[in-house]
Amino acid sequence: ERQIFITRHGESMDNVTGRIGGDAPLSEKGRKYARALERFVSQQRASFAYDLASRKVKEEDDWRSYGLEPLDGKKESETIDTRTTQEKIDAKAKELSSGQFTVWTSMLKRSMATAANFDPDVYDIKHIRFLNEINSGMREGMSYEEIQRFYPEEFHTRQSNKLYYRYPGMGGESYIDVIHRLQSMIIELERMTQSCLIVTHRVVMRIILGYMLDWSQKEMPHMLVPIHTVYELRPKPYGTELKKWQYIE
Ligand code: F6P
Repeated sequence: ERQIFITRHGESMDNVTGRIGGDAPLSEKGRKYARALERFVSQQRASFAYDLASRKVKEEDDWRSYGLEPLDGKKESETIDTRTTQEKIDAKAKELSSGQFTVWTSMLKRSMATAANFDPDVYDIKHIRFLNEINSGMREGMSYEEIQRFYPEEFHTRQSNKLYYRYPGMGGESYIDVIHRLQSMIIELERMTQSCLIVTHRVVMRIILGYMLDWSQKEMPHMLVPIHTVYELRPKPYGTELKKWQYIE
């Protein structure tokens, strides 16, 4: 079992002024979120390890009550474990919570800064260009109001077909383009067994959540994915469990 946390970056200066794209730093509120995020993930990670450890140790004790000593992973010559149940749970939780935990961010300042409080000795931190926000080409740095005022047709075309609409200009992308560049990341995410945190952007998050939670391609580009909200996914044999937390200052 593992935990996958996903969040958008903390509030950026462009979020404050309503501009899309760009590479703005975090606002003061965004920096507060970044600090809260580190505390939250560390605490969630510890309590997840504790729950898993209690379940494992209790299962073993159940077997013992039937006279069966579980030998999984133990040398058969091992002397009888004289630790109390609580001691065993604590030791197991410590072992589980010291396992690898990956933090992936995009390569944009706002996303890297959101993960800046994670200790690199404890977390395996990687910055990945594929997780960058949709490139809005010639519309980078504009607000939706400006696009609507100066390029009304373009604005309308995008609203009516966000999935396929590609922003004009060098590097401009559509949702479909972003889906393509995320493919290898999504395969990696499904393949890995350790828990992780992904700090990314609105479009990338809609796509990853859409894939994991089976959102239709029609609804996915319009889903509300606010900032300062952490999503936790737990892949299970029957689907993915979802929990959400919103940060309130
Ligand atoms: O406004 C933040 C932002 O991440 C922009 O950088 C990006 O262009 C936009 O959201 C994507 O959202 P939508 O596809 O709804 O325009």
